[in-house]
Amino acid sequence: VLIKLLICGGGNGAHVLTGLASSRHNVKVNVLSLFADEAERWRKTLGDNHFVVNFREKDGSSQIITSRPNMITNDPSKAVPGCNLIIFTVPAFAHEGYFRAIAPYLEPNTVIVGLPSQPGFQFQCCDLLGIGGRTSAIVSFESLPWACRIGTFGREVQVLGPKDTLACAIIMRGCRPLFPILKTIQYVIGKEPKLTMAANYLSINLLADAVVHPPMMYGTWKDWDGKPVAEKPLFYQGLNEFSANLLDKVSSELVQTAQVIHQKYPDMDMKDVIHLFDWYKLNYKESIKDMSNLRLAMKTCTAYDGLVHPMKETPDKMFVPDFTYRYMTEDIPFGMVVFRGIAELAGVPTPAMDETITWGQKILGKEVLVNGKLTGKDMNLTRAPQRFHFHSLFDLVNLR
Ligand code: NAI
Repeated sequence: VLIKLLICGGGNGAHVLTGLASSRHNVKVNVLSLFADEAERWRKTLGDNHFVVNFREKDGSSQIITSRPNMITNDPSKAVPGCNLIIFTVPAFAHEGYFRAIAPYLEPNTVIVGLPSQPGFQFQCCDLLGIGGRTSAIVSFESLPWACRIGTFGREVQVLGPKDTLACAIIMRGCRPLFPILKTIQYVIGKEPKLTMAANYLSINLLADAVVHPPMMYGTWKDWDGKPVAEKPLFYQGLNEFSANLLDKVSSELVQTAQVIHQKYPDMDMKDVIHLFDWYKLNYKESIKDMSNLRLAMKTCTAYDGLVHPMKETPDKMFVPDFTYRYMTEDIPFGMVVFRGIAELAGVPTPAMDETITWGQKILGKEVLVNGKLTGKDMNLTRAPQRFHFHSLFDLVNLR
């Protein structure tokens, strides 16, 4: 079968995916970017040239991959019809616009992929794709396959390294795709990372990396006096006792949520959802110098050396925290609030998440949590299941 692939997005990840997919036989690639004049700029910058992916393999060698997509446009009526595989590679705040744009043109049995999906992708997908998307399968990936950055916009992108493995969950919803889903996505991205299947979509949601950022922002800045500071504080190496305790508690709330889901619905295998400290023991064994507790493990993980807080520079060369960065603007509405929503449906109390959200919503000038309930006026800016008409654990586990 000819894979007719639609890529939604136009940033680093979308550049890499466009270049890799367009180089494969039997894959026709349309790119849809709805952001400002991005599609037009990309089309004009590329002109008649080849698009280049500079791919650094794990062994340090580099591969140059050249190709051209079939189409780059901001017009869904041109890009979507006929596509049987649609991959979102764009930050979560932009997903809604793409769902709305593609919905009228979807064909039956389309496979929709979040690469990455980020928490709540599946709920939003079911809600916004309407009748056209009734038989769309939903594939959610836990992260992006590569660390990557654009070299020259529209022309060249660098893959700094692929991950080893990358997990996804698939919800079929009666979809009868023309191709094997996981094998086809693996073919499109190439041999690394090795794609694997998580036990179910709820564990992909509860596992997201979004979990660490908001508690660390809160723990660092909760008592900030508003005065600029002389240096950008280290993000992980500077982790304080309060934040580490809070992370430990938030992580326990997630594990408890997973356990309750499994108790009530024994078919739901939730063993992938593990405590953050155990996650570090598994994933960063070789990079961590002191594994005596969660705080020291995160502080001494060499993979994080030198990473600093997101900061804005003031006119006199001092720094203030940048609360518009994705650690807050994405990881609260498309992370912590989704976790909180799932925990609420499972009946698990979440004092640590609530404390984080209560601070975060004030900083962001939004209202989601009111008197311990997710009923604030800005819930429609989040991806909690409650916003999309999922009102019980039964509703959640029946999404398959
Ligand atoms: P990016 O930062 O390159 O995304 C920018 C793109 O988002 C823009 O090119 C545009 O297409 C879209 N966009 C920006 N502002 C918009 C707006 N106001 N309205 C609509 N669209 C807008 O994102 P990147 O690097 O491709 O990452 C995609 C996802 O993968 C993100 O969730 C990121 O956190 C995650 N990720 C990225 C990694 C990387 O190395 N780049 C590594 C691991 C995860």
